[in-house]
Amino acid sequence: MTSLIDQIESAYANVPTVPRDEAIRNASLAAMQLMLAAKAKGLDSCPMGGYDADQFVEAFSVPERYIPVILIAIGKAAVPARPSERFSIDETVIWNSF
Ligand SMILES: Cc1cc2nc3c(=O)[nH]c(=O)nc-3n(C[C@H](O)[C@H](O)[C@H](O)COP(=O)(O)O)c2cc1C
Repeated sequence: MTSLIDQIESAYANVPTVPRDEAIRNASLAAMQLMLAAKAKGLDSCPMGGYDADQFVEAFSVPERYIPVILIAIGKAAVPARPSERFSIDETVIWNSF
């Protein structure tokens, strides 16, 4: 029986985009979970894609095997958050088919 590690290694070796895509997918899931955990502990967070990834890598000595995916600030909110102006769930979730 093929182990999970064998399956992953095979997928990573055969399709060159898979390692990067999976790193971004998995880090994004972890990032959301981290923000939800922070909220559950009474903290707030700010996810940032708009930052200088090269400077981040340099400043934090990030090893070459990692790619920067998202920067998250976590802390106590200085003031209550304003209402979000993002699209509503009804506008962003597609049920079954486009
Ligand atoms: C430096 C910086 C970079 C950000 N980059 C992104 C981004 O790449 N994508 C995004 O959707 N929001 C980005 N944001 C926005 C915040 O994550 C977002 O406004 C905040 O979580 C509040 O959510 P709201 O827009 O629903 O009010 C950035 C905010 C800052 C301060």
